[in-house]
Amino acid sequence: MTTTPTRTTPDQLSIPPDGRPYHDQPQWRNDFPIDWPQDELVARRDFTKFLVLTSLAFVVGQLWIVIQNFARKRKGKPPVRRIARADAIAVGSSLVFDYPEAHDICVVVRTGAQQYFAYNQKCTHLSCAVVPDVANGRFHCPCHNGSFELATGVPIAGPPRRSLERILLEIRDGDLYAVGTEVRA
Ligand code: FES
Repeated sequence: MTTTPTRTTPDQLSIPPDGRPYHDQPQWRNDFPIDWPQDELVARRDFTKFLVLTSLAFVVGQLWIVIQNFARKRKGKPPVRRIARADAIAVGSSLVFDYPEAHDICVVVRTGAQQYFAYNQKCTHLSCAVVPDVANGRFHCPCHNGSFELATGVPIAGPPRRSLERILLEIRDGDLYAVGTEVRA
C-alpha cells in the first residue's frame, strides 16, 4: 500500500502543474514530487543572472572602447568605431557608416569571405558621393563619370586625380571596426 505525502507548511508545498490534489495525481508524481514554485524561482533567477551578466559584458565592452578612444584621442590617434557584425554584410554588398565624425560618410564593401574595403564616400574631384560598382570592381561617381579602383581607391577614369580616403578596418570577435584612415599619395 502506498501513502500520499502530506505537506503542511508552505516550504514543503509542491503544487502539481495541473493543480489537481495529490490523491488525483499519478503515482510517479507522488514518488518524485517537484517543487514547482521553487523550480520556477530558480529558472527566473538563472535568467535574471544571465541578463545581468550579458548586460555587464556589453557595458564593459563599450566602456573599454570609450577608454581606448579617449587614450587614442590624447595621443592624436583616430578613434575606434564599431561598424556592424562582419557577417551582417553579404559578399558583394555594401554598408554606409560614418567615421571618424558623424558628418564623414563612408561606405564599406565586402568582396569575399574575409575581404572588406572601406572608403570615405566623398569623391576627390568635387565631393559627390561615390557608389560601389562591385561587379566591375570600382566605385563610380555619377557627377562627372569618375571611377576609382575598388581594392585601392585609386582613380582610374574621369576627372578625379586623387585617391579616395581609405578607412582602415579590423575584425574583432566577429565585429567590424573602423580604426583609422589612410590617404594615398
Ligand atoms: S565629383 Fe566625382 S567625378 Fe566629379
